[in-house]
Amino acid sequence: MAMEGRFHFYEGYDMKQVTFPIRVMYELGIERLFVSNASGGMNPEFKIGDLMIITDHINFFPEHPLRGKNFPTGPRFPDMHEAYDHKLIQMADEIAKEKNIRIVHGVYMGVQGPTFETPAEYRMYHKMGADAVGMSTVPEVIVARHSGIKVFGISVITDLGGFDVPVEVSHEEVQEAANMAQPHMTEIMREMIKRS
Ligand code: HPA
Repeated sequence: MAMEGRFHFYEGYDMKQVTFPIRVMYELGIERLFVSNASGGMNPEFKIGDLMIITDHINFFPEHPLRGKNFPTGPRFPDMHEAYDHKLIQMADEIAKEKNIRIVHGVYMGVQGPTFETPAEYRMYHKMGADAVGMSTVPEVIVARHSGIKVFGISVITDLGGFDVPVEVSHEEVQEAANMAQPHMTEIMREMIKRS
């Protein structure tokens, strides 16, 4: 099952709506969820157009997708020690190496948006332990993990923030960088689907 786009919290949907597709996927028997997103890089080693394998996340959304009566798909207090499956990460690393695709690893911070970050916010998120920041993914991953679905995620670094000289970020440049990096990401995902 593939989704074309997603629902974002900043669009006005609540967390139950944002994560509804994952509930449907669970009911259809999906065992693995592959997610992708665009994000702002804060790790000084990163370059625009990099693909970042998400190794972990920080949930910085103001509302939790599991708030309320517990769904019987998982426990009330779900474990999150391996939100992103280490075997799938290993597989992606191997594929990237075979295909000579530059890949970086990092922690993704999910925020509500829709504003891009101020320079101070980028610096703060980096100090808090994140390598990239974006406005999606974390709610869907939480619901998938609560339902026992294994998760793999790639973040396209579409802009950089928090460095010495603050630069303007626009939706157009984010889209352009995402389009540039997409063929490599698709190649990795396609190969992973084949092998898993
Ligand atoms: N911040 C938040 N979300 C984003 C960014 C960013 O810099 N780039 C793409 N999505």
